[in-house]
Amino acid sequence: MATYDPKFPRTHYDNLVDDEWTRLTRTRHGELSFLVHMDVLRTYIKESMSVLEIGAGAGIFTKELVHMCNRLVVGDISKAQLDANRANMGDLGVLNCVGEYRELDLADLSSLHPVSFDAIVCVGGPLNYLMEKESVGIQQMLRTLKSGGVVILGVMSLINSVVRLMRFLPALKRNRGMANTRWLLETGLQDQEHSPDTEHFCHMMTSIDADALLDLDSVEIVEKRAAGLLGMAGEEELNAVKADQDLWNLVVERELAWSKLPGAIDLGDNILYVVRKR
Ligand SMILES: C[S@@+](CC[C@H](N)C(=O)[O-])C[C@H]1O[C@@H](n2cnc3c(N)ncnc32)[C@H](O)[C@@H]1O
Repeated sequence: MATYDPKFPRTHYDNLVDDEWTRLTRTRHGELSFLVHMDVLRTYIKESMSVLEIGAGAGIFTKELVHMCNRLVVGDISKAQLDANRANMGDLGVLNCVGEYRELDLADLSSLHPVSFDAIVCVGGPLNYLMEKESVGIQQMLRTLKSGGVVILGVMSLINSVVRLMRFLPALKRNRGMANTRWLLETGLQDQEHSPDTEHFCHMMTSIDADALLDLDSVEIVEKRAAGLLGMAGEEELNAVKADQDLWNLVVERELAWSKLPGAIDLGDNILYVVRKR
């Protein structure tokens, strides 16, 4: 597997500030994914909790978590994302609800006290950047979590990405060749060796990859959800549905219900796991 280098996700997200704040509001697909994430957060995050949000980005979930828990620490590898998060929380008048902002790499959370959080929220794919350190990232979160605490983990789904990027596959094959295209589809790995034309190095996962990472005596998998499942319909179709509020409500209801089906788990844009530390 490719070697993790923190400079790649840091540089990528330092250059992506404006896009990140609207990533789940500018499309109906994003809206559906947001609603599934919120359903999970509302179920597991309680008022009394001390929460770490790692890979918080511009603050799409920070702005919700500030109202849901007792103390919130916001971390990200990208200083630009943390600055944007601070600015966005300031604009919303909730900056004083964030306990602390920390520049943190998921691969090394040693600057945090062990056993100090009731919940860790790591959604939107920070783990997908860790390459050979994916297991290290899981262990780092478990180290900082109290016994009985939960990690809410979201990873980018390989199958959903391939479906949505299908139209780019012919160009991909032309640019990278058949062997490298096959590598990407089979492994989900966009790494230095096989994808030299990008610096967005990441590992898009199937649920088998994530299940293997979480197959640990120290954790119990409480729930798995597909987020953004019905987004595969396409924006034009979703916009037509959204024009009729009753119809949109029905589709949202189905998204939330079907996101729990075992057969749907790989089809959302992100696969959400709720794991409890024993
Ligand atoms: C797609 S964004 C998701 C942001 C936010 N969680 C959300 O769902 O909107 C991924 C975030 O993970 C952060 N990230 C990537 N690799 C990371 C790492 N190794 N440690 C901490 N954060 C990381 C990026 O800087 C970026 O802000």
